[in-house]
Amino acid sequence: METEIVLVDSSVNKEETYSQAVEILRNGDIVAFPTETVYGLGADATNPQAVEKIFTAKGRPSDNPLIVHVDSKESALNWVQNVPAKAIQCMDAFWPGALTIILESKPGAFAENVTANLKTVGIRVPNHRVALDLLARVNVPIAAPSANTSGKPSPTLAEHVYHDMAGIIPLILDGGQTTIGLESTVLDMTSEPPVILRPGKITKEDLELVIGTVRLSSEIQGNAPKSPGMKYIHYAPDVPVYLIENDEALVGKAIQHVQKEGKKVAVLSTADFPVADYHFPLSAETLYDSLRKCDQTDADLILATVSTAPNRSDAMMNRLEKAADHKWFS
Ligand code: TXA
Ligand code: MG
Repeated sequence: METEIVLVDSSVNKEETYSQAVEILRNGDIVAFPTETVYGLGADATNPQAVEKIFTAKGRPSDNPLIVHVDSKESALNWVQNVPAKAIQCMDAFWPGALTIILESKPGAFAENVTANLKTVGIRVPNHRVALDLLARVNVPIAAPSANTSGKPSPTLAEHVYHDMAGIIPLILDGGQTTIGLESTVLDMTSEPPVILRPGKITKEDLELVIGTVRLSSEIQGNAPKSPGMKYIHYAPDVPVYLIENDEALVGKAIQHVQKEGKKVAVLSTADFPVADYHFPLSAETLYDSLRKCDQTDADLILATVSTAPNRSDAMMNRLEKAADHKWFS
């Protein structure tokens, strides 16, 4: 299969591009599209064969449910039931935006493989012109996980999607770099108080201003992860990642140590480390691009510089800990 990347902006043949994308989706195939968080791999959430193609394209385990995207709160409410008042408050406050809300889905609403046979669904309205235009035109809910190969860093550029999905999907809508760069906050509103299953740009504090007490799943001791995706390896480049305290002297020593063994080291940090073989910027917006760039070097090891007091509610720290499989350099 040939994979086409089409730039979608206000100028060239926008309508033609959307019609092409809508036709592909209606025919049960996949279209990758930008959101404000990361690029998504979209398919008709009511069509099990179409959804199956997403799992195959990503190599994703079938017990990890997909997030469903719709164009508005009103559309969302057609597909879910027993919606608590706090969920409506969140929709009003944060949609369109980077908040996925877990709610009870209406029986038979979605293809069973979207929700991995759960009675609940993760649903959100993305805050991105291209995504919203596409969703409004296709007029069915679109299941869309991040558009990376399962386990790899999520895509923040159309090129990242192309790297992972060339020859596998027919169309990538290119909307440039995604602005947030990390996946949406996932909030389970089927429990009381609601629980953050995945931290994101919208924080516990942001949510608490609107709906009062919210818990972090990482704080609930001895609880099996309720978000099935949390148990899998995530965001990991091929080169092994180690966390290290953001201390110039310590990082300098670590670099020397690795280089003495004849190995090359890539450093991810806010400050420049001229002695490193490679250096890439570290911020929410650049994290995944930097991890992918490390894989294009001959580095043997990645040092990601972080503060030693890991903040469990911090989205970037959450992704880095997973990319490093919680390994600290010593
Ligand atoms: O920002 C985002 O959310 C991006 C863009 C494309 O919208 N999408 C995304 O999807 O990150 P994905 O599939 O890579 O992550 C979905 C996460 C997984 O951790 C999954 O386990 C969880 O949401 N999830 C989905 N449905 C769920 C449900 N019914 N109950 C609990 N967790 C659920
Ligand atoms: Mg993902």
